Amino acid sequence: MKVTVCRKVHFNAAHRIFNPAWDDKRNEEVFGLCSLPHYHGHNYDLVVKLTGEVDPETGYVFDMKKLKDILDEYIVDRYDHKNLNVDVPEFRNTIPSAENIAIAIWNILREKIETCYTIQVVLYETERNFVEYSGNE
Ligand code: NI
Repeated sequence: MKVTVCRKVHFNAAHRIFNPAWDDKRNEEVFGLCSLPHYHGHNYDLVVKLTGEVDPETGYVFDMKKLKDILDEYIVDRYDHKNLNVDVPEFRNTIPSAENIAIAIWNILREKIETCYTIQVVLYETERNFVEYSGNE
């Protein structure tokens, strides 16, 4: 019996959506205010969903304390109050759009969570704009 368990965490981070291969005019045309050079911030909400079998001995799919610790240590501590473009290595050469942040988070979690679980990442950049990524599973 497969069940999906979910945990929500929060982080604040700054970014700038900017393609260095383009000039300022083209960046502004495509990205608008998001390309302004002095960065802007978002209050990100992240929902991580793990799907797996219910363990008959515990009744759990995954220990939620363990999931909390993984998310705090490897995601929140990594991104919270950071300038994503400047402070976070995976965005040195990758535009820190919500899409790319979701992919980066999924890749980190895939290394930390056993492969018997499928992982889905839902990242809210605003209350109304959010992206989902599930790898190639
Ligand atoms: Ni933004």
